[in-house]
Amino acid sequence: MQQLKKGGFTSSIGFILSAAGSAVGLGNIWRFPYLAAKGGGGLFLLIYIILSLTFGFTLLTTDLAIGRRTGKSSLQAFGEISKKWKFVGPLTFIVPAIILTYYCAIGGWVLKYITVYFTGASAEAAHPDYFGNFISSYAGPIVMMLIYLSITAFIVYKGVEKGVEKFSKIVMPGLIIMIVGICIFTMTLSHDGRSAIDGLKIYIVPNFEGLTFKKFMTILLDATGQLFYSLSIAMGIMITYGSYVSKQDNLSKSITRIEVFDTGVAFLAGLMVIPAVYVFNGTEGLEANGPGLMFKALPQIFNQMGVVGIILGAIFFIMVAFAALTSSVSIMETIVASIMEKTGKSRKQVSLWVGIFAAIGAVIVCLGYNLFMFNITLPNGAQAQILDIADYVSNSVLMPLIAILTSVLIGWVAKPKWIIEELEVSGHKFKKKMLYTVVVKYVAPVMMTILLLQALGVF
Ligand code: PHE
Repeated sequence: MQQLKKGGFTSSIGFILSAAGSAVGLGNIWRFPYLAAKGGGGLFLLIYIILSLTFGFTLLTTDLAIGRRTGKSSLQAFGEISKKWKFVGPLTFIVPAIILTYYCAIGGWVLKYITVYFTGASAEAAHPDYFGNFISSYAGPIVMMLIYLSITAFIVYKGVEKGVEKFSKIVMPGLIIMIVGICIFTMTLSHDGRSAIDGLKIYIVPNFEGLTFKKFMTILLDATGQLFYSLSIAMGIMITYGSYVSKQDNLSKSITRIEVFDTGVAFLAGLMVIPAVYVFNGTEGLEANGPGLMFKALPQIFNQMGVVGIILGAIFFIMVAFAALTSSVSIMETIVASIMEKTGKSRKQVSLWVGIFAAIGAVIVCLGYNLFMFNITLPNGAQAQILDIADYVSNSVLMPLIAILTSVLIGWVAKPKWIIEELEVSGHKFKKKMLYTVVVKYVAPVMMTILLLQALGVF
């Protein structure tokens, strides 16, 4: 990103690909399916799509337009709009710092599953206990995490993200083709009288049976946190990206593309995982698996494919690792660039510090499954270990808080016109003006406040 800053993005497709590279990652492939499974499938999906078209669109528009209008990274952009609101900048900084630690831990899990297919352990990995045994062991998860983190840090240290992004032009389409292929295979599965088609129905048909207010609020909070996480919004990253976009670019068109792409990949990942989990483990499997869902379900699918599954499994996890890398690089780069801007220290020095910080944080996250193992109940009723707590604090507490502050600042202080003008500066009409204004002024602050209170356990 540092090199990009000098010239900005040369083309709007370059910008879309980079923003999509940051957006599409473990959030889509690992996080979305397990939350959708936990939230009852179809109902979660419906809520997620509605939120994506309203909040997602509004907040992504806001972040990118703030960045382009001020030309500053998130640390300074808020102060540029209003002196009194400067404090939001540092606040947006905390979220990527938390996410980076556990993102690397999960990146390590992905690397582990790559090795599984090269060491002939693929049948073993299909066993339901394999994942739990792995994450609760001491050395394995830490070693894998350190390898993953070193690759991320090395890319940032060398300032070669552009090269990685070029690579993602090949990896992203490849990943999507593979996901579609796996989805088709998943649809042919059946086990113990359960068919994938029934699993598909669970995933896409909303089921309102037994829905209580509390359950609905939990799903709503999960879906909102997921939306923020998946689009990399409400954490400053998209503000920084926006500052690189050229004034001639039709921003609202790019926003629609990023959203459709990001939500499309998440939808497909759910389609690949959820019916398979249903086939192998029934409805209880859907509710009980949590963050391990993808790591348990996919090896089972690949195992059903025989020898082909070993090759596909290896390629698939390698591609997931790339998608994850483009995201973790964007997270670390944002942190490093901000610190460099503030302290004037060199990229190499700052990358090293941030790398050490992330390593310490990620070791603690890994030890959360053995040495520091405990079970606490989060205000949303979920059982949590360290990783879930970090995830909850960043996605369910801090992101709604930042979203409230950003929407009040834009809706009431700077006024929506400030953003609308920026979107129209290229001469293109901003068609969703009305929707934008209503959401940023009224719907977002009210809804986000309710959700934040819910996250803090008030309801
Ligand atoms: N959006 C990324 C994903 O879905 C994760 C991410 C979070 C990236 C925060 C940047 C910042 O995996």
